[in-house]
Amino acid sequence: MNITILGAGSIGSLWACHLANAGHNVSIWSNKPEKSETLLILDNQNPKRFITNSVLQLKSADVILVTVKAWQVKGAISALLEHLAPETIIVFMHNGMGTMDDLPVSLYEHPIVLATTTHGAYKPSQNSICHTGFGSTTLGGYNNLGQRCHFLSDVFENALPSVTWSDSINKALWDKLSINCVINPLTAIHQCLNGDLLQEKFSTLVVQLVSEICAVRHAEKFEINSDVLLTSVHQVISATAKNHSSMQQDISHKKITEIDYINGYLCKVAQRHGISVPTNQELYSQIKNIEQSWS
Ligand SMILES: NC(=O)c1ccc[n+]([C@@H]2O[C@H](COP(=O)([O-])OP(=O)(O)OC[C@H]3O[C@@H](n4cnc5c(N)ncnc54)[C@H](OP(=O)(O)O)[C@@H]3O)[C@@H](O)[C@H]2O)c1
Repeated sequence: MNITILGAGSIGSLWACHLANAGHNVSIWSNKPEKSETLLILDNQNPKRFITNSVLQLKSADVILVTVKAWQVKGAISALLEHLAPETIIVFMHNGMGTMDDLPVSLYEHPIVLATTTHGAYKPSQNSICHTGFGSTTLGGYNNLGQRCHFLSDVFENALPSVTWSDSINKALWDKLSINCVINPLTAIHQCLNGDLLQEKFSTLVVQLVSEICAVRHAEKFEINSDVLLTSVHQVISATAKNHSSMQQDISHKKITEIDYINGYLCKVAQRHGISVPTNQELYSQIKNIEQSWS
């Protein structure tokens, strides 16, 4: 397939290399217009060259894989829409929810697929990528056209397993969001490792967050029992105890976080249902205050 990666950061570069290894014609679209080629080295493999910023490649793309941060999605995809054939499938792979709410209407003429992944990657330099944690990926259709694209799970599975197709991608996204709403802001505010959240001093806060998340999920008809969610949160904290969350890293590097699409999204949905979520609101405000203090 002809696949263009929009945003070859850590996760985009990881998929670029694996999809190319699986035999696809992979190109990159970057926000550096002067680039016509990108060299990527995944772990200790041979370097790979990717055609970059080619409108010709965009026009013939079967799939655009969008791997920018949640707050970059609208600007990044809007700039490309005029070049895409209507049948080009757009796959969005990022943390958080709510990005689909303010995209141009012409986007919905395309098959749209949403993806969530638990793989971990980082770029120690411009051209190299470390695959730091093997995980799994879930794909699912967002609109009717996207729901017909379940063959994509085989394409992605052959490149970087394990991949599953979900007929209810929003449920998978809520599951990921629920965990992120707890781990991300707390580790970012306290500049600590995920595992530190198991300390007694965080236990009341974690229970309050979980209870608010469950109330919002109930209203959205993506119910989850609070004991079940609390257990999942503790399992993820334990399994990733030595990791720095993405939001912790963003704050420590003074980079804009994805808070608007994590706790910010939860607060927005809660408001729509008239549900009070003071603990999520407080953490959201604290992260926004930190971001604003940089300017
Ligand atoms: N990294 C992980 O391990 C991991 C794991 C699971 C999920 N995720 C999620 O995956 C998403 C991407 O994360 P990431 O870690 O890969 O972030 P990242 O390294 O910052 O990658 C985003 C890339 O997109 C580029 N970009 C931004 N705007 C663009 C535009 N308009 N056109 C083209 N390229 C553009 C950025 O370039 P600049 O740097 O020049 O802005 C950067 O190279 C996030 O939602 C993250 O939460 C990441």
